[in-house]
Amino acid sequence: MIAVANQKGGVGKTTSTLSIAAAMAELDLAVLVVDLDPQACLTFSLGYDPDAIEPSLHDMVVGRQTLASTIVRHQEVDLAPASIDLAGAEVTLLSRTGREFLLRGELAELQDTYDMILLDCAPSLGVLTINGLTAADEVVIPVQCETLSHRGVSQLLETIHDVRRLTNRTLEVRGLVATMFDPRTKHSRAVLRDLLARYDLPLLGAPVRKSIRFAEAPTKGQSLLAGGQDIPGAAAYRCIARELLGMEPDADLLAAAGWDDERRDSVLASTDEASGLDRSPPEVAAETAADADDGEISVVDLDEVGSGRG
Ligand SMILES: Nc1ncnc2c1ncn2[C@@H]1O[C@H](COP(=O)(O)OP(=O)(O)O)[C@@H](O)[C@H]1O
Ligand SMILES: [Mg+2]
Repeated sequence: MIAVANQKGGVGKTTSTLSIAAAMAELDLAVLVVDLDPQACLTFSLGYDPDAIEPSLHDMVVGRQTLASTIVRHQEVDLAPASIDLAGAEVTLLSRTGREFLLRGELAELQDTYDMILLDCAPSLGVLTINGLTAADEVVIPVQCETLSHRGVSQLLETIHDVRRLTNRTLEVRGLVATMFDPRTKHSRAVLRDLLARYDLPLLGAPVRKSIRFAEAPTKGQSLLAGGQDIPGAAAYRCIARELLGMEPDADLLAAAGWDDERRDSVLASTDEASGLDRSPPEVAAETAADADDGEISVVDLDEVGSGRG
């Protein structure tokens, strides 16, 4: 059971939860995703209406339903949905004894039904997220390769430390999922290197490239992977899923994700930003055109312009 957590919003938790779950389902695993966010983006992304869905996790919190009885069967994965009234759950839970353990108890009964359970946490460190971290065996932390401000990650790591002490002794941090990576910009590469150096956590699979397709997927009620789009980001999530399952890395998938050995070495070992040397591979210009065709978001990065490459 894996919790996908970061108390910062918009870093790719929901996208990662769904994409990793879909990749595991492709490998013939029975997968359950649990929407622990009152904003219910995961529920919406799978095509359900968070305003109308009944029963939902909220019914479990108030004790009207078991978690199992809220589960709906989507074509790709099973879902324990959130509805907007889950927002009230934090308050309801606060006055309950053993509130941190509610989800863990409910999920224990489903462990045999599923090969994998993924928990999409809310962008907060509130009671629901603590419930997720208390229930999970492992936690995966999505981080955006877009901003150098990652103070949120240390705060999350502190919370995980507390959870280990108080409610879940064996919780393990599996690693980072690098989201919204743009290999063409120095900034994105620098952020990725900074993240890996700063937190001493493994990078899972391959960085997930920034692509407009991820923003489009939720309106279709299925994961990006089910859409049959062979973009690098989909391959990256397949690599991440394999690593989480303890499978051997797949060289073809890594290449499809844009993360073969050569690229990885050039991004991670590069000191071009610090030294002023430009050691980026020469295929950058060609790749930019290819990526644009691919639906990749084009970002004009001032650093790139300034570097005089072209
Ligand atoms: N690799 C990506 N490239 C481009 N956009 C992305 C990518 N991953 C996620 N997004 C978009 O970024 C927004 C925030 O992602 P989301 O998964 O909802 O984050 P969170 O659950 O952490 O709030 C969404 O609109 C999503 O479609
Ligand atoms: Mg979310």
